[in-house]
Amino acid sequence: MFSIVIKATQMAQSFVEKKVCEYDYAIDATLGNGKDTIFLSNLLKRGIVYSFDIQKIAVDNFKETANKLNISNVIAINDGHENMDKYVNKKVKAIMFNLGYLPKGDINILTKPETTITAIQKGLNLLMVGGIITIVAYPHEEGMREREEILNYLKSLNPKDYAIMEIGFINRTSSSPSVIVVEKNSTSREDI
Ligand SMILES: C[S@@+](CC[C@H](N)C(=O)[O-])C[C@H]1O[C@@H](n2cnc3c(N)ncnc32)[C@H](O)[C@@H]1O
Repeated sequence: MFSIVIKATQMAQSFVEKKVCEYDYAIDATLGNGKDTIFLSNLLKRGIVYSFDIQKIAVDNFKETANKLNISNVIAINDGHENMDKYVNKKVKAIMFNLGYLPKGDINILTKPETTITAIQKGLNLLMVGGIITIVAYPHEEGMREREEILNYLKSLNPKDYAIMEIGFINRTSSSPSVIVVEKNSTSREDI
């Protein structure tokens, strides 16, 4: 039986898939095990994916995978996403965040509200009109504050400039993740 959505990460990918075309540029703000980066790399056959992680192990592992899979359109950067503007000088169509810690990695190394919000702000500047940012947020102990601070920041943005929504599961545990989607509006809307 066909299921529309099983995981929040798949939901985020389904939004991105509808937006990007093969010539676009995109950012994976949290490389981790590389699933979103590989997903973006497959979509952007003639574009570039910039992928960030503060953990060298994540970048090194990805480079190994990229060699094995013959992936040549990804620039994997061992730096925080809050510095993305130092590396990306093109407008991008999509930016994906998957917050929290690296699965099967060090659970003490995780995304932080301050740096995540700085990265979102810089991401909004780098985003093409019509482009989207997806953020998979986990309301576990640390993630709760991060999600709340992100939502507070996003609520302050002008609805004429951005369409922003959050999608979550209503029949799963309170610790299940949600997806926040930000679209940069293509025209200044008068009807909001
Ligand atoms: C949930 S994992 C990402 C999973 C990944 N999207 C995947 O498909 O496997 C979160 C990652 O964010 C990284 N991270 C934490 N703070 C960061 C920062 N400031 N900039 C970039 N990456 C960061 C962590 O090291 C971790 O690998």
